[in-house]
Amino acid sequence: MVRKKRSLILCSAFVFVAWNALLLLYFWGRPPIGHLGESAGEVIRLAEEVEIQLETQKKLLEQIESHRAPVHSVAPVIIPVLVIACDRVTVKRSLDRLIQYRPSPGLYPIIVSQDCAHTETARVINSYGDQVTHIKQPDLSDIRVRPEHRKFQGYYKIARHYRWALNQVFNTFSQSTVVIVEDDLEVAPDFFEYFRALYPILRSDPTLWCVSAWNDNGRDALVDSSKAGLLYRTDFFPGLGWMLLKELWNELEPKWPSAFWDDWMRQPEQRKDRSCIRPEISRTITFGRKGVSLGQFFDQYLRYIKLNTEFVPFTKHNLSYLLKDKYDKKFIKEVYSAPLMKIEDLQKGSSLRGPGPYRVQYSSRDGFKVFARNLGVMDDLKSGVPRTGYRGVVCFLYRGQRVFLAPPEGWIQYDISWS
Ligand code: UD1
Ligand code: MN
Repeated sequence: MVRKKRSLILCSAFVFVAWNALLLLYFWGRPPIGHLGESAGEVIRLAEEVEIQLETQKKLLEQIESHRAPVHSVAPVIIPVLVIACDRVTVKRSLDRLIQYRPSPGLYPIIVSQDCAHTETARVINSYGDQVTHIKQPDLSDIRVRPEHRKFQGYYKIARHYRWALNQVFNTFSQSTVVIVEDDLEVAPDFFEYFRALYPILRSDPTLWCVSAWNDNGRDALVDSSKAGLLYRTDFFPGLGWMLLKELWNELEPKWPSAFWDDWMRQPEQRKDRSCIRPEISRTITFGRKGVSLGQFFDQYLRYIKLNTEFVPFTKHNLSYLLKDKYDKKFIKEVYSAPLMKIEDLQKGSSLRGPGPYRVQYSSRDGFKVFARNLGVMDDLKSGVPRTGYRGVVCFLYRGQRVFLAPPEGWIQYDISWS
């Protein structure tokens, strides 16, 4: 790359010098101006010629200059967005927002991968023309599953589709990273800004394996609306609008599961103690009430997640506080220096002064669940990790006060039997 640029500069410089030499010879060879009845027209023509030559020289100089400048700058990475679609025409809502907020089609190509061969949905996707690339999962066969998994056929198809689509992105399209969006996700205005800013953090910290747009406890009352720029590390894989690198795909692809890919990723064998970045306020919401899973979960939790509306210029922020060493030190100090409260005190609010933070301690699976329910955060655990948890700590607002629902100080690891 650098060598190529250097030879370009040399080449342009040579052309520049040669051009001047030729010009000099040309003018030397001409009779002196104004001699013996030379017409005024001739003089003007000559002046014009000189002007044109000067213009050409200027362009050459500019070219030389432009090749010199970018030697040290690096081209921005292309971050493709993979939209996973099947048979819902409402994919339009996802695509409309993605296209509306996308700063550049070149830097953020949208690849819509469609499973299910649903004609109406295909028509909707095609209506976007060359604003998106439409690819189709070719294997539409039923998947043989054990009888008690008959009702989970959909999850098998999703896992098959993910594998195929990610192979397309990384192997066929040779991309180095991707953001995955499902067809029932709507994105926030700073969705692209968020992922671009976090790409170098994901690249440089081997204890991170994803960046997600989703806060599982992102309900209105649980988040601080004045802190749209706030970001966290989490041990719980959130999915729902998330970025991964090709290196991770190379690691996961050979053992990719036949179903329930998201819970599979939450298992210790896959996660290997790695974390994701997640925002205080979600950069995606889901509107998919009717889907492969039952609508109950949707009605109870998902529909209340708040979508961020304010554009945060993340690429101009210094995000190095998210790197593990820095983050953990500060996080542990902040959590365990917060005064320990009884949950009743928080609920009464009588003995509280100021905005917190406060700490509530749990030391068993059931204790966690009871407190979580009482404080309004999600109470389920996957492979021992609570939703949004980091080192066992769940962080949220309760009646406007910052609360850490935390295990005792000196946490070492999750107990995978907690589920
Ligand atoms: C839930 C998760 C989802 C995860 C899925 C797999 C939530 C809110 N959703 O799906 O992130 O991927 O479990 O465990 O937690 N699809 C196909 N082929 C099919 C059926 C669906 O490709 O045969 C696609 C859909 O277009 C969609 C995705 O799979 O993009 C998820 O399907 P959906 O119906 O939304 O299922 P959820 O219950 O939300
Ligand atoms: Mn869904």
